[in-house]
Amino acid sequence: MQRGKGTLKGIDCFMFTASPYRYVHGKKLLVMGSGSGSNFEALVRTLRPYGALFSGLFCDRHDAYILRRAENLGVTSVTLQPEEREPTKRVSTETLNTAVDTFLAQPFDLVLLAGYMRILPAQTVQRHNSKILNIHPSLLPHYPGLHAIRRAWEANEKRVGVSVHIVTEHVDAGPLVGQVSISTRNIESLEQLTQQVHRVEHKLYPLMLARHFEKGMTAQPWRGTEYELELFQNELHTQEYGTTEQI
Ligand code: GRF
Repeated sequence: MQRGKGTLKGIDCFMFTASPYRYVHGKKLLVMGSGSGSNFEALVRTLRPYGALFSGLFCDRHDAYILRRAENLGVTSVTLQPEEREPTKRVSTETLNTAVDTFLAQPFDLVLLAGYMRILPAQTVQRHNSKILNIHPSLLPHYPGLHAIRRAWEANEKRVGVSVHIVTEHVDAGPLVGQVSISTRNIESLEQLTQQVHRVEHKLYPLMLARHFEKGMTAQPWRGTEYELELFQNELHTQEYGTTEQI
């Protein structure tokens, strides 16, 4: 699409006034992850065009692929260097907590956990009360913790899902921001289901983040099916580009 940023100011203005994504404009976002970072990349690619500022990534594993993504996306990253590790190859809790606190000492509007495999210390969560979100691949409160997709699949659940929630001291248990349910009816394997869950995650997280900025802490959580999530997205799309054509 040639109508890039700044080409026609009216388009940008309209985009920012027509969709919930406008609420991310100028927001400083920090991301914490430990693994592949596909959610991190989806967040950056979806929200940066709307003016979201990704001011840093924290990764507790120096060899995680998410760091490569950060480099490619031009997001400053912080990780624990190998020399900081103990002979056991485990990061000491003290080293980790200090690094996390240092990372979170910079100004931010929200912290987004995106596959961060550590439990944040209760003090850290309390200090940043309600300013940390997480994405989890299940219909919370069902299947908190590890291997949520596999456990739901092995239990022959008719519906699985993805949840975005506010982080509290209890793992995967904070107030919901939004949740999508996914039918397993036409899914033939765990691999297929895993891919589908990730595809949904990449849409849900940016959308719920924007909605969270729009509606605030006290909003009712958004709940829908995959189809309703598509409608939500398409409605935004129509609003943005529908009027663009008239300019
Ligand atoms: C996602 O399934 C997310 O829901 C969970 O960890 C996984 C991270 O994947 N919390 P990625 O690193 O974003 O690819």
